[in-house]
Amino acid sequence: MRTQIVAGNWKMNCNLDESLHLLNALKLKDFSKADVEVVIAPPFTNLYPIHQNLNDSSIKISAQNINENEEGAYTGEISPDMLKSVGVEYVIIGHSERRAIYNESDELLAKKVTAALKHDFKIMFCIGEMLDQRKADKHFDVVKEQLEKGLFHLSASEMKQVVIAYEPVWAIGTGETASPEQAQDIHQYIRQVLAEQYNQDVADQTSILYGGSVKPNNAREIFAKKDVDGGLIGGASLDADSFAEIVMSF
Ligand code: 13P
Repeated sequence: MRTQIVAGNWKMNCNLDESLHLLNALKLKDFSKADVEVVIAPPFTNLYPIHQNLNDSSIKISAQNINENEEGAYTGEISPDMLKSVGVEYVIIGHSERRAIYNESDELLAKKVTAALKHDFKIMFCIGEMLDQRKADKHFDVVKEQLEKGLFHLSASEMKQVVIAYEPVWAIGTGETASPEQAQDIHQYIRQVLAEQYNQDVADQTSILYGGSVKPNNAREIFAKKDVDGGLIGGASLDADSFAEIVMSF
């Protein structure tokens, strides 16, 4: 059985006080009834204090980005070892905002994937088409190319560390979600591509999350689809009640 995951990507929100407040509210929720791994991705500055305040909570911590180099003259960047040293378990790589706003190319993302694996992180690798690509019926080709260029240098055993997050760019922060059927269609396709590149075992074991305007009122329907193994949640993860409701939608 694949791991079901609900991850909150806090993006560039929450200063230290706000982060700890949100964490404390999440710690009061009883996630044990849902068979789901709960992950939060606060901004870099709050990773360590969050880790220190987790106590016996089962919530896992993710970074939102990682640098592909080990160390050195890369002003403003954060290395894999730095993230490891503050208790980070997951890293998000290839978020569409990193691709679009910070021009992160497929080639760079492939290097980040390699660096993250070298340091034993679990990876949430984001893929997804833009609106014009969806309208032109290119979404299957787009995600296939993103997988090939970003991930397919990995071996089958390395792929076991990777979770895929399908986030159609037109659904991120827009209030517009892919329909459960649209999500299922592309998740099934992603699994088929994994089976072709690797084998059925890798395809069956890889968790594929959906992201893009997931809210408490649509999560249940989306998560009910057979190839949707959870969600990567933006806006709704900043509110403990909404995020908990989404987690409990399983
Ligand atoms: P929203 O849930 O705010 O649409 O963001 C999705 C996302 O980008 C998660 O990484």
